[in-house]
Amino acid sequence: MAEIKPTIPPNDPLAIPENKKVIDEIINKNKHLNGATMVVLNELQGKIGFISRPMQAYVAQQLGVPVSQVHGVVSFYSFFTTSPRGKHTVKFCLGTACYVGGIPQIIEKAKQVLGVEPGQTTEDGEITLEVCRCVGACSQAPVVVVDEDLHGRVRPNKFPQLIKNIHPVQE
Ligand code: FES
Repeated sequence: MAEIKPTIPPNDPLAIPENKKVIDEIINKNKHLNGATMVVLNELQGKIGFISRPMQAYVAQQLGVPVSQVHGVVSFYSFFTTSPRGKHTVKFCLGTACYVGGIPQIIEKAKQVLGVEPGQTTEDGEITLEVCRCVGACSQAPVVVVDEDLHGRVRPNKFPQLIKNIHPVQE
């Protein structure tokens, strides 16, 4: 029976020989460990910078675990990203105070303004959206962190202003 291979885009790390070599080294060195999935994904995130869908499928195949398990781990932990990080990062605090304080509405606004959701990077490679846990500024909820700068009591309609230095407001 013919093997069905997922299509790998030419810019995927799996299609780039030097990246593929690193990926294979990481998998081979760790595949016999208990909890190999987490160890391998951690190293891939650190060395490649992100874990694409084809990479997730490849890791699952090489470790002999279901793709859904690998995908589940990547989606659960916010430090994993599925595409290269942009030059700038915008993080939304998903701690309880910020959640109750309205961060979901700000994330919605960000999606409208930038056309991407948390875990993704804008098409121009400029901005990556991420979610994070409590950053310790609950009294200022809801909190958005733009690169290193923390912004509190953010309102959805103020989001474009907040990122004006990294994404000029469209007139
Ligand atoms: S919950 Fe967001 S800063 Fe604490």
